[in-house]
Amino acid sequence: MSSPYVESYAVDGTELVSIGEASTKIKSVLKMLGIPSDLIRRAAVVAYEAEMNLVIHGGGGEMELEVWPECIKISAVDTGPGIPDIGKAMTEGFSTAPEKIREMGFGAGMGLPNIKRNSDGFELLSEVGKGTTLRSEILLQKT
Ligand SMILES: Nc1ncnc2c1ncn2[C@@H]1O[C@H](COP(=O)(O)OP(=O)(O)OP(=O)(O)O)[C@@H](O)[C@H]1O
Ligand SMILES: [Mg+2]
Repeated sequence: MSSPYVESYAVDGTELVSIGEASTKIKSVLKMLGIPSDLIRRAAVVAYEAEMNLVIHGGGGEMELEVWPECIKISAVDTGPGIPDIGKAMTEGFSTAPEKIREMGFGAGMGLPNIKRNSDGFELLSEVGKGTTLRSEILLQKT
């Protein structure tokens, strides 16, 4: 069995200057590896929305990209406030983003539903006061 291509990215929760950096890097790595463009597009949505949530809600954290022959795995882990009700958070239009963030164009409550829609495998684990872990998988070879 071959080993995956792995990269991790620290996502700063305070420095808005570097916002979008991790997802931009993930996109270019996938291009470099020759992943089909429709799958790159899906992975880019997952990475971007996951990164925004890390910054806006999670206080920053870490993202990881794994590229296997059969799938792409993207994870985002933070030790922020956590999500009290995962079902609510997954509902289209639900957002706790503050006014200031909404003025910047975020907070439509569409990030998590969009991540799920673009993933073949999706997992969201969270504990209030401890943090949140999101895992997404996109299949490269449909079996
Ligand atoms: N990493 C996280 N830590 C804590 N809460 C989170 C995290 N990610 C999501 N949430 C909660 O889930 C809600 C829904 O997330 P989602 O990404 O769908 O929408 P949003 O970030 O509020 O808006 P949008 O993504 O459309 O800009 C958030 O408003 C927030 O309450
Ligand atoms: Mg979001």
